[in-house]
Amino acid sequence: MTRIIPSSPSEEAYKVEEDQGEVFTRDDPLALFAEWLALASKKEPNDPNAMALATVDAEGLPDVRMVLLKDFDVRGLTFYTNTESAKGAQLAATAKAAVCFHWKTIRRQVRVRGPVEHVSAEEADAYFATRARTARIGAWASAQSRPLAGRFALEREVARRTAEFGLGEIPRPPHWSGYRIVPLQVEFWVNRPFRLHDRLQFVRPEAKAAWAQRRLYP
Ligand SMILES: Cc1cc2nc3c(=O)[nH]c(=O)nc-3n(C[C@H](O)[C@H](O)[C@H](O)COP(=O)(O)O)c2cc1C
Repeated sequence: MTRIIPSSPSEEAYKVEEDQGEVFTRDDPLALFAEWLALASKKEPNDPNAMALATVDAEGLPDVRMVLLKDFDVRGLTFYTNTESAKGAQLAATAKAAVCFHWKTIRRQVRVRGPVEHVSAEEADAYFATRARTARIGAWASAQSRPLAGRFALEREVARRTAEFGLGEIPRPPHWSGYRIVPLQVEFWVNRPFRLHDRLQFVRPEAKAAWAQRRLYP
């Protein structure tokens, strides 16, 4: 077996790592997140809005997978998925999640934790309507996270749904919607020379409370 794991940088390399200067430029975590995401969107070649979404199953075993952030505002961070998927079942049971962004090109990380709520049906409908027709058909055809006999079974279901909808409207499937993570903890991490990275954590006890902030040892 060939194992290729990049080696750690040398002492010398640590010293010459670029220092990014002041990056904690806002007192509000959502405003700071917006700034970092805007920068990441200019630098990351693919999916700057991709985030690892962590949930916990009925046995308390963590689960994690990538999803795409589709919206965020003062209420929280929104993503869309099949509500009958593994993550959907886990969220139905716990209504809690964490997400982590890692932007390799700018060597920054943002972590968010909090309770999860459903977006409204109107919000989900509006976003579903913006998706490509093929993606809307895919949402009907995929029983996400359930066993699939083979690729052909999925393609057959896509063909069946395509014929069913014809040229007509494709409504949002009842099992497809969005979740909003209401942030109670947001942490910003930036790479610094000598591995003396900077961390800034914002916390609040509940959604309507004011944010407190503190620095953490790296
Ligand atoms: C970059 C990236 C973005 C993804 N975005 C989504 C998404 O927004 N919604 C989604 O349901 N799955 C998305 N997926 C697929 C999920 O990672 C996962 O395979 C799927 O949702 C099933 O997860 P579950 O079985 O834990 O529910 C994405 C995968 C990658 C690699």
